[in-house]
Amino acid sequence: MSIQLAIFVSGRGSNMEAILKSIQDGELDASVELVFSNDPHAKALETAKQFGIKTASIANTGLTRSEHENKVRELLETVSFDYIVLAGYMRILSAKFLSHFRDPRGFFRVINIHPSLLPAFPGKCAYEDAFSYGVKVSGITVHLVDEQVDHGAILAQQSFPRLADDTLETFKARGLAVEHALYPAVLREISNNGIKLDNLTRESIET
Ligand code: GRF
Repeated sequence: MSIQLAIFVSGRGSNMEAILKSIQDGELDASVELVFSNDPHAKALETAKQFGIKTASIANTGLTRSEHENKVRELLETVSFDYIVLAGYMRILSAKFLSHFRDPRGFFRVINIHPSLLPAFPGKCAYEDAFSYGVKVSGITVHLVDEQVDHGAILAQQSFPRLADDTLETFKARGLAVEHALYPAVLREISNNGIKLDNLTRESIET
């Protein structure tokens, strides 16, 4: 079944682009109804426009979290979508905002990609933190978003090695290549089979 997506971005947008390419190539049965950014200057918005996707931005500067989220919600009321896909969206979503996107089974219809093997290295600098910790193996996590940061039920994880001669840059590049394959693959699985409750932790469905 085709799924409708609203993608949230804040910057470069390489994951968004990987998702759009996967749709374009006929590998992912989905449509992107909106690309939204909290940064009007995000490169991702330009890329989305080149794909012919509707874009919108609402800057968060000068607004409280709740003021900003109320505006984003108003915007989303004009769009039809099944899932919000966070792709480098650098804002924490409040429990109140998330509550508007609750699936009848309890979880929120909001998905995120995080560049570590959660629960290791949550937060904004996961690549840097994992690299400077000296991990031998790291990875990428795609998960449902819940009220805690980088925390919800894990949908998929894929590991990648840190090689002996890696610099932070080569380590990040290896991880990013995994991200670009994993996010479209997880969305393809959701498009084909929905989100399977078996995959979810009890905690995430008992809210
Ligand atoms: C990615 O590393 C993603 O895992 C993290 O933010 C980064 C976004 O990169 N959440 P891009 O904007 O998709 O290129």
